[in-house]
Amino acid sequence: MNFEIRNAKIITACGNKAVTDYTLDTFTANIFISNGQIVAVDSQNRDVDFFDASGLIAIPGFVDPHTHIPFVGERSKEFIMRSRGSNYADILKAGGGIHLTVNDVRKASVDDLVTAGLKYLGWMLKNGVTSVECKSGYGLDFENEIKQLEAIRSISTLTDQNIVPTFLGAHAVPPKGERLFFEDLKLMMEEIKERNLAEFVDVFCDEGAFSVDFSREYLSYARSLGFKLKAHVDELTNNGFGKIASMLGAISVDHLAMCDDSEIDEMSKNKTIAVLLPLTSFYLRHKFAPALKIIDSGVPVALGSDFNPGSNTFYSPFFTIHLAVNYMGMTPAQAIVAHTLNAACAIGLGDKAGSIEPGKRADILLLDVPSIDYIPYMPTNEIIRTIFLNGEILENRNSLSWKNKK
Ligand code: NIG
Ligand code: FE
Repeated sequence: MNFEIRNAKIITACGNKAVTDYTLDTFTANIFISNGQIVAVDSQNRDVDFFDASGLIAIPGFVDPHTHIPFVGERSKEFIMRSRGSNYADILKAGGGIHLTVNDVRKASVDDLVTAGLKYLGWMLKNGVTSVECKSGYGLDFENEIKQLEAIRSISTLTDQNIVPTFLGAHAVPPKGERLFFEDLKLMMEEIKERNLAEFVDVFCDEGAFSVDFSREYLSYARSLGFKLKAHVDELTNNGFGKIASMLGAISVDHLAMCDDSEIDEMSKNKTIAVLLPLTSFYLRHKFAPALKIIDSGVPVALGSDFNPGSNTFYSPFFTIHLAVNYMGMTPAQAIVAHTLNAACAIGLGDKAGSIEPGKRADILLLDVPSIDYIPYMPTNEIIRTIFLNGEILENRNSLSWKNKK
């Protein structure tokens, strides 16, 4: 299908690499779309059906570079315990937290995981999220980690959202301990590589989770098999693993709430993307990552949700951007670039997503607001008038309508 979005005020980052200057280009143009791709952004009026976007702002669809979809079950009891003073690390060490979701996921079928995953992805889509990273990590054994990755593969055929799969087998330490578990993880990674079930390998390196020594060896092994790397670092406590992950060539280091200067310096040298997850800091009542310090040091920053059943159940990019601006000191432009182009680059989608440019997928949001400041100012998805996902129109609120040619 060929069509145009006409007269939109386009506000977008440009390029296919993570940026450190957070420039948003602003101009009014027509966007010509063919077979789900943006073909041209110019002032031509072509002889095709068109969508009149006069008075609306067009931004790229949001990219969520860090979620724990798919999972089943819920952990509301743990949430209430924390609201009364317990802490996340203590609950995890006592065998709660992630381990409870592991019990639920082990009992679930691939179909159960697909159904639950699609439900949450649908919620995200209504909030303008058109590309999503999905992780395993609630199986913690061969059969169940592979089952989660098979569910992600199936999900990716059932939604038009761009889905990027990550293997997070090293998410919580099972009773056998990290050393013995390493041998299992190696077998899982070999199988996953052979079947191309994941692009990234991730590890949760923190107090109560995996040690720095394990995480180094583990990511090195993953790299030797040809995986791209990510790591959960400094979410609960500082251990400096961000520096090591960056030296190992990780594409992104995520969380960083408790990071130190030596990690930031190394990430800046290697242009490792810092994926900041302010919803989790908010949900756990922890401190926010030092976004401005990270940005000022020349590290490209991306934003994501970390949506999962334990440490954070929010998923709205509007709310994330609100927190980034209001609590982390980022400008609206920095936050939007961080949640579009830089987020796409953090999951290897820089060529496909994150900006409104010829050659990218037609994942576009039309917003009915006077300026992008409204995204953090009034952080609700109700300001989205229309969502184009892979060139298909999904939302057409307030009867904004098609104009057929002639
Ligand atoms: O990023 N930190 C580890 N993993 C998730 C939490 C997962 C869970 O609690 O189920 C996180 O916060
Ligand atoms: Fe996470």
